[in-house]
Amino acid sequence: MAIERVLTSESLERLRRPTGRAFGLPRETFTSEAIYAEEMDRVFGRGWIVAGIADELAQPGSVVPLTLAGRPIVLTSNDEGRIQAFHNVCRHRGVQVVTKPCSGQKLLRCPYHSWTYDLDGRLRATPHVGGPGVHNHPDIRKSETGLVPVRCEVWAGLVFVNFAAGGPGLLTFLAPLIERWKAYDFTRLRLGGTATFEIKANWKLAVENFSESYHLPWVHAGLNSYSPMEDHGCFFIPGLCQGQLSRNYAQAPVDGRTLPRFPGLSPAQEKLAEYPVVFPNLMLGLHADHFFALTAVPVAPDRTYERFDLFVIGDEALEPEFAPHRAQVVEAWRSINVEDIDVVERMQVGRTSPAMDGGRFAPGQDDCVHAFELAWVDAMTDGGDRSVRAAD
Ligand code: FES
Ligand SMILES: [Fe+2]
Repeated sequence: MAIERVLTSESLERLRRPTGRAFGLPRETFTSEAIYAEEMDRVFGRGWIVAGIADELAQPGSVVPLTLAGRPIVLTSNDEGRIQAFHNVCRHRGVQVVTKPCSGQKLLRCPYHSWTYDLDGRLRATPHVGGPGVHNHPDIRKSETGLVPVRCEVWAGLVFVNFAAGGPGLLTFLAPLIERWKAYDFTRLRLGGTATFEIKANWKLAVENFSESYHLPWVHAGLNSYSPMEDHGCFFIPGLCQGQLSRNYAQAPVDGRTLPRFPGLSPAQEKLAEYPVVFPNLMLGLHADHFFALTAVPVAPDRTYERFDLFVIGDEALEPEFAPHRAQVVEAWRSINVEDIDVVERMQVGRTSPAMDGGRFAPGQDDCVHAFELAWVDAMTDGGDRSVRAAD
């Protein structure tokens, strides 16, 4: 395995030191094609990862193909609006069945020989399978030849899939975060806007950048003026997420009005903002008046596609009178993310240099980045040896 050549016992020892004395992951973990291929299996192929948003599948008959963890899959919404995921691979000769998102579908027909599946993945038709005019054959049992399902569950308007057969369900996996955020009524989330980004850097660098507020004064001078670095702290839920929080979040009014908020929050919760990274690549932002999901989708070792979905609170927030407010929130996060792209891409460039020894972490600033790299090592090494992990 490529990872074993790069994650030597020496590099692991250096990474597992207390944050101030630790060195970051070897640079090859951000540049190597072989390690990228391994992390598709080990990091993205074995746990819950975000595939899309439920809104895109709100209409029964919706079909969304995508590539995730290097695998073609398709999300469907059946007659009852149930969202499911399948490997997007025909059971006959392995053709990718769907290539474009579509709606109003009842069936998925493979273009090659017209084997046809319903939106629950069942094989429905095999024309001429047994010879001209013979549409069924005892050797091809339809009940055993449906599209191969992928585990799929929805939380907070986000569609997650899991390529592993075993392990906890999504809500069990997320339970500590759901418990932490139980005061917020997530049934009120409504899709309020989206944005996308392309970054010439490894997906881990996008996630690591999101995990620290150390760069705020220099990269986000505007944001730092109303949400300064010193108001930010870290929080950890071992095995699930780590991230920043701010206790001084303030809604920016537009025309003297602010977006509707989650009902029933305490005064402290009204001013709280939390930004966890749910391992591996889901970056969340929870505020009194909006929630967002920013997903860093790996495209290549040095390419990442990011998707930002804003959720506002309750039907009222979707009224036309709040359109400027929604647009303002999307634009605020879009411009902050654009500000980040230059430094993230330059971290990638730095990792092409033999002088890059993993880099140091700023003690008191980079605990979340360090925790993320340790979690990545655990995922890549089947848990590693946690007993040698340094206590921070
Ligand atoms: S490959 Fe799909 S029907 Fe032949
Ligand atoms: Fe940033």
